[in-house]
Amino acid sequence: MKKVEDYIRTIVDFPHEGIMFRDVTTLFADPRGFRMAIDQMLHPYAGVEIDKVVGLEARGFILGGAIAHQLSVGFVPIRKKGKLPGTTISQDYKLEYGEAIVEIHDDAIEAGEKVLVVDDLLATGGTAEAGIKLLERLGGEIVSTAFIIDLPDLGGRARLEAMGMEVHALCA
Ligand code: PRP
Ligand code: ADE
Repeated sequence: MKKVEDYIRTIVDFPHEGIMFRDVTTLFADPRGFRMAIDQMLHPYAGVEIDKVVGLEARGFILGGAIAHQLSVGFVPIRKKGKLPGTTISQDYKLEYGEAIVEIHDDAIEAGEKVLVVDDLLATGGTAEAGIKLLERLGGEIVSTAFIIDLPDLGGRARLEAMGMEVHALCA
């Protein structure tokens, strides 16, 4: 039987020379692959109290929406700067290939809410760390973080674990 990683392809030199881009669109496009990924991402959270799922732009929206639906909880997006229409708070961060700013609506999470953070891939951990900082500024309690892919050589897991975060990933 095919595994989740079998549905993911690698594009060399995208978006810049030297980057081996893990492309999960091939996983999302396959009915068995997508269901398998969502089911496996949900597995650690059976019986765990979660109030909101937070997805990191852009592929975290696809995964986070499906996971929130399965858990029957609300979904909250963390977006790149300038995309959210309401009042936001912002956090800058460094990427494997550049710099960016992420934002969240300042009323999206209530203090004390238990939050699951979702994205497709953990590389340096800069994106997830920026998202976690936003959620902590709103008083959210981060229960766990969930990814399809962890690239351990880039240090993201160690960085998040050093912040006291639980990290779940399906493959490396
Ligand atoms: C990718 C990926 C994560 C982030 C991981 O998104 O989907 O969000 O990079 O990298 P990091 O752990 O080093 O922060 P990308 O920045 O390419 O943005 P996009 O999803 O909007 O295309
Ligand atoms: N984000 C940061 N590094 C990445 C990679 N190698 N593939 C896909 N998304 C990424």
